[in-house]
Amino acid sequence: MIELQALTFRYAGADRDALHDITLTIPDGAFLGIIGPAGAGKSTLAHCLSGVIPHAVRGDFYGAVRVDGLDTADSRLTDLSCIVGTVFQDVDSQIISSVVEDELLYGLENFGVPREEIEERLTFALEQTGIAPLRHRAIASLSGGQRQKVAIASLIALRPKILVLDEPTGELDPSSSRQIFSLLRRLNRETGMTVIVVEQKIMLLCEFAERLIVLSDGRIERDGTVREVLGDIAGLEAIGVNCPRSARFSSLLSEKTGRPVPVCVNADEAVEAARRLIG
Ligand SMILES: Nc1ncnc2c1ncn2[C@@H]1O[C@H](COP(=O)(O)OP(=O)(O)OP(=O)(O)O)[C@@H](O)[C@H]1O
Ligand SMILES: [Mg+2]
Repeated sequence: MIELQALTFRYAGADRDALHDITLTIPDGAFLGIIGPAGAGKSTLAHCLSGVIPHAVRGDFYGAVRVDGLDTADSRLTDLSCIVGTVFQDVDSQIISSVVEDELLYGLENFGVPREEIEERLTFALEQTGIAPLRHRAIASLSGGQRQKVAIASLIALRPKILVLDEPTGELDPSSSRQIFSLLRRLNRETGMTVIVVEQKIMLLCEFAERLIVLSDGRIERDGTVREVLGDIAGLEAIGVNCPRSARFSSLLSEKTGRPVPVCVNADEAVEAARRLIG
């Protein structure tokens, strides 16, 4: 479980809080999506979950973040990284090896994974992220999307209890993005990993996440199931969140017909809602 208690963080030299009075509980096994406009504090929140804040970033940190019972401010980053694995928004800042295989091996060896398990974990992670053919490639020769997959594969190989991914599909095409989300769902369902994803592709996120948090100006503006949060299109758009078309459609349908229409989170539901109204 993750518990944030009145978390406030202000970067050194900044004149406002990047996160302000955030209180939040994320149970084990959750699949949580975090959305919000640019500068809302999404990456800052991800850094607080991994412990990078307050350990490696200067600023004023108030309140508490507890991950699996560990208070992040009082725990060593190396201990935290065994529990929370992160893919940063800027993946290049976290890749340290020059060859794909070495990047995965580095983490596995550092985590003390037994030798006989290493090959199986490595193969699994490369295959599941679709980069098995890149195993011996120089990382410098890869595209941004391929490097993003290397970072995700390195994370998956370590099998942390909690995954925090900050815009993991930013450089990926639609089919690769879906592949990554499907992998996250499988890991979440089959192994009970907690998955926390910051994502701009809201339509995709809403299809996979169970709970959605909307951050704006360092505060939690919405927190609920995907359907609950998407139920207030006008409110979300006022915050600066670009809502999925299916949800806008169901909201419009309800407004124009004066009849209740359930929130549609994907195209199939939107078609079904329209059909019901016509029929
Ligand atoms: N290293 C830093 N030093 C000072 N201020 C920072 C730093 N990093 C972020 N900020 C500020 O903190 C606030 C939150 O930034 P953050 O990167 O968490 O937003 P975000 O929601 O992830 O945005 P984006 O969608 O653009 O990734 C912004 O006002 C930003 O300018
Ligand atoms: Mg960010």
